[in-house]
Amino acid sequence: MSLELALLSSHAPSLLYEDKVPDFQLSIVDAFHQQRAKIKALKPDVLVLISSHFLTNWNHYVDATPFHKGFLTAREHPDMIANIPFDYPGDEELANDLAEAGKQAGIPVVSFNEPTYIWDYGTLVPLRYYIPDGDIPVIDLSCNMSASLEETYRWGQQIGKVLRASKKRTVFASSGALSHHLTRGRSNMPTISEKALDDRFIQLLVEGNYVTAWEMLPQFSVAADVESGGRHVAALLGVLGQDEFHASYLGYAQSSGSGNPHFFFELK
Ligand SMILES: [Fe+2]
Repeated sequence: MSLELALLSSHAPSLLYEDKVPDFQLSIVDAFHQQRAKIKALKPDVLVLISSHFLTNWNHYVDATPFHKGFLTAREHPDMIANIPFDYPGDEELANDLAEAGKQAGIPVVSFNEPTYIWDYGTLVPLRYYIPDGDIPVIDLSCNMSASLEETYRWGQQIGKVLRASKKRTVFASSGALSHHLTRGRSNMPTISEKALDDRFIQLLVEGNYVTAWEMLPQFSVAADVESGGRHVAALLGVLGQDEFHASYLGYAQSSGSGNPHFFFELK
């Protein structure tokens, strides 16, 4: 057993610089600190992260690049997220194992080794909190928008199998919002209906009722426009399985109409 911890986090652009986070998102900064403390105490060998901003077609991608290094200027916010350096080791061997496990399950998963690949901010924002010193290897995964939620859930199950079987101590992280019907105005909350759906989904996770959360996800994703169509959540639920992990709910904040909960999931 070497899948030791799972995480759900958000990545609003306003979180990039901790000293500039608006008051209504400070609960998320506190949640990130709790997640960082867990990672620091665990000292994992690798962290695998699926980002709802690494959106691909046809294939699920696994970044097997041995060193992730570059500068990110985000297409969505080139003024707010500009020229942000990143420098993290990767894990080519485990990345290739993940891709192979996907293929063996009949899922189109492709690994790539491309040093010029520039990360998205859904990957980088959480990592700046999780691993501020860049001293833990990272494997980033895409959300494949051609894949159904069911296929993405099965891909998550395969990821979970590989991480559990690994001799390395691993952490899995999912980066993205729940409700994500974006509106202009950073402090805007989700609508009452979207917030009610977020609350119910969060409650299911808190109760450890991952099976019912998975049953809820398809309709929830459509009704509340869940980020990435819910794929980063489907992968997380696939990794978690049914009853192995205990959830700790760390906080929630809005960002431009989206709903952003943070969790960690520890082995019981
Ligand atoms: Fe996002």
